Amino acid sequence: MPKLKVIVGSTRPTRSADKVLPWVLAQAERHGAFEVEVLDLRDWRLPFFQEHMGSIGDFADPTYSEPIVRSWNHKVAEGDAYLILTAEYNHSVPGELKNAIDSVFVSFGFRNKPIGFVGYSIGVAAGSRAVEHLALIAIEGEAVPLRNTVLIPFVGEAFDEAGEPNDPATGIALGITLDDLAWFANALGRARAEGELAPGTFRARAATAEAAASDD
Ligand SMILES: Cc1cc2nc3c(=O)[nH]c(=O)nc-3n(C[C@H](O)[C@H](O)[C@H](O)COP(=O)(O)O)c2cc1C
Repeated sequence: MPKLKVIVGSTRPTRSADKVLPWVLAQAERHGAFEVEVLDLRDWRLPFFQEHMGSIGDFADPTYSEPIVRSWNHKVAEGDAYLILTAEYNHSVPGELKNAIDSVFVSFGFRNKPIGFVGYSIGVAAGSRAVEHLALIAIEGEAVPLRNTVLIPFVGEAFDEAGEPNDPATGIALGITLDDLAWFANALGRARAEGELAPGTFRARAATAEAAASDD
């Protein structure tokens, strides 16, 4: 069964994420296609990014600057699919979320795996600008960002007392996102098992070295 990691990208006290997460988690588990685990960045207090070639050590099993960064890279690499809950801070993603994604460094943990998004905000924007940025960030992480997303406007009033969304479209959107995540997790899991191309940066370096050698 594919492993779905639900990443919670806001950590501040009183966060609205706590209105969204219980419902998302319940739906992801009820969907039935995944083994679900929450990766709450409150539980993953990563240092601000400080990796460099000296902190990496062995590329095949990097050391990193601190043990928690190494554990984070291993934990992310376990996943077959990801669902990221993101608030919108100044029209983009929370800094801690960006830092957590940047911290997946040289392990290629997200590579060739699908990422879905749940955006929310207190206003009408619903986290849409954060989700747009996340899709671009995910591409650079060599992940496969999904087109279909969940956007929750006016998050303070978006859930009833039972924790269910007031707008039925919210539940429909999450159902579609989970279906897409399951389909891509299975399709890309099969493809990865058949064999992956080396990362483009490695291939470019090898091709450049080969071209330079043939010039000698
Ligand atoms: C630093 C900061 C920047 C924000 N920028 C935006 C914004 O650009 N667009 C928006 O719709 N809401 C913005 N908000 C309001 C958030 O939507 C609202 O605070 C929401 O509860 C954040 O999610 P969280 O509580 O889970 O962190 C911002 C909030 C903070 C703290």
